[in-house]
Amino acid sequence: MPDGSEHPAPNPVAAPLAQAPMGLWDSYRTARRNILEIIPQRALHQPAISGRTGPQRWHMIADPGAIRRMLVESVEDYPKSEATKSILRPAIGESLFVAEGAHWRWQRRAAAPAFSARNVDALTPIMTRAAEASAARLEEQVGRAANLLDEMTAATFDVISDVTFADGQGVDRTGVSAGLEAYVDRAARVSVLDVLGAPGWLPRPERAAAARALAETTKAADAAIERRRAAGPGRQADLLDLLLEAEDRDTGQRMTTAELRDNLMTFIVAGHETTALTLAWALYLCAFDEEVQAAARDEAQAVLGPRAATAADVGALPQTRRIIEETLRLYPAGGFLSRTAQVADRLGPAIIRPGDTVMIPVYGLHRHRRLWEAPDAFRPDRWLDRDRIDRFQYLPFGDGPRICIGARFAMQEAVVILATLLARFRFSAVRGRDPKPVMILTLRPEGGVWLEVSRA
Ligand code: HEM
Repeated sequence: MPDGSEHPAPNPVAAPLAQAPMGLWDSYRTARRNILEIIPQRALHQPAISGRTGPQRWHMIADPGAIRRMLVESVEDYPKSEATKSILRPAIGESLFVAEGAHWRWQRRAAAPAFSARNVDALTPIMTRAAEASAARLEEQVGRAANLLDEMTAATFDVISDVTFADGQGVDRTGVSAGLEAYVDRAARVSVLDVLGAPGWLPRPERAAAARALAETTKAADAAIERRRAAGPGRQADLLDLLLEAEDRDTGQRMTTAELRDNLMTFIVAGHETTALTLAWALYLCAFDEEVQAAARDEAQAVLGPRAATAADVGALPQTRRIIEETLRLYPAGGFLSRTAQVADRLGPAIIRPGDTVMIPVYGLHRHRRLWEAPDAFRPDRWLDRDRIDRFQYLPFGDGPRICIGARFAMQEAVVILATLLARFRFSAVRGRDPKPVMILTLRPEGGVWLEVSRA
């Protein structure tokens, strides 16, 4: 923590990277524990590194020009890798996150209006309510150390369950979300094997068991969708209503119950934990640098007074937004993007062959020694001058046509909740309880984010 002396402030926690690329067995063992630890140190200094794990050739690309080629110019040649898709498919079917080609395009077009600025503003009262409820729970924790990761998971759960199944009639919303997350957690651990090209005969028992547990969840969601279809829009607009209305401009096609369910499940999988992690890391960083926290608190108190933040306040909270942006740089919830090359190509110095796994180690890109000043330091003010930052060196939400559809939604939610909490509470680090950055499918603070909570 900064101590006000002339010594440079230490940096917030970082993952220990590998000294050198690993062989198959070491990669397997390490990646099950923490995929960040298979990133070699060298990846922070070079535009690309290439290797082979068993028969699978792979590359890690950290060159903004080459990334632009993968995600924008030649996006058709770099579909999402089968490994990532096979983790998610049993949970979310051929939904937006997983689909390719025409099937992806129509779902993206159908869902896009639901995430427009206007609709995100219309859904913001749900975020404001969740922020208020979170602050009320934290009131009970004043004077104690609390695990803010659990609290942020509860807050973002309120939001995602209200925006997916707003009236919640007959859906066990907690069950749906818990079922999905248990599935993804178990399935992701084994599928890291596939990314690394482990042989097919290695046992993957978790995936089958996890898929069975999901069947109940799927049934409950389908029943809720059918009920809504029959009853018409609920009192409070939600994503289900918006998707029920969605129609392909050209063909008039509408989503089937299975497509609706898979996409709602996708929003829960892609949108709930990622936002909770971002908020938990942001609070960790605010406790790490109390000066930054104090400045953001002053701003939030001046704008909000005793209210929770609303859509109308978001534009007046730039310091909170910069904290979130810097949090997403240091701890991007989606720490790795993975694609499978379809054609021979060149990406910066890397020679690509069809079938190669091409990864963007977002965590490493965001701390690359050649791209960032003080790459491991927490400096929200670097976002004051964003023209100096290349669009393709900062990818918390990916980029190109497959960019996160929920990015605006997530930023709005994070600013609303963080500003509301900072205006009312002061968060301080608990000695000896720093979290450890661990990534399986998402980048989590292992051990939780334990902070002392007091009134602001
Ligand atoms: C801080 C929170 C979030 C982060 C860090 C995040 C990150 C990402 C990233 C990196 C991708 C691109 C993956 C790739 O190219 O391989 C992505 C895609 C996606 N995200 Fe998010 N996301 C967040 C919140 C949300 C929310 C709130 C929703 C929905 C409610 C959402 C829905 C999706 C969907 C549907 C896709 C797939 C889009 C497509 O392929 O067309 N995300 N997200």
